Amino acid sequence: MIEKRMVAAGFAAAMLLPCLAVAQGTASGQDQPAVQGNAEAGRAKNSMCIGCHEIPGYKSSFPSVYHVPRIIGQNARYIEAALREYRNGDRNHPTMTAVAEGLSDRDIADLAAYYGSK
Ligand code: HEC
Repeated sequence: MIEKRMVAAGFAAAMLLPCLAVAQGTASGQDQPAVQGNAEAGRAKNSMCIGCHEIPGYKSSFPSVYHVPRIIGQNARYIEAALREYRNGDRNHPTMTAVAEGLSDRDIADLAAYYGSK
């Protein structure tokens, strides 16, 4: 099922790629391929985020008490950049670094599209 969605998302990405590749490549300064997020696919991947990010005012208590920022409705570009920063170590937070390390470029793009569209 996910495979089918990925193929559809990939097709959509291929259509949009030429301009995005330029925009993203220069903005992030990274050599990863540009990936266009798919909100539907992101929804299928957010099960490990909802426990913290979809509870208003929630504070996670490990390893100490942190306020969990609201990401629903955040700008998709901002969410994508933040997740990449946790993943590559530019931002550091024990939980989010661990979460982001498990995400692929496509996961990040899809999750950003999903949360950014809510
Ligand atoms: C255990 C709780 C927890 C889980 C699970 C979690 N997060 Fe987070 N997230 C946090 C906390 C706490 C912060 C604030 C970290 C900091 O101060 O840098 C954060 C920060 C973020 C930010 C940066 C927000 C900002 O305003 O700068 C993004 C984007 C984000 N998380 C996305 C996700 C996504 C997507 C997932 C699922 C793949 C996820 N998080 C899973 C607790 C969690």
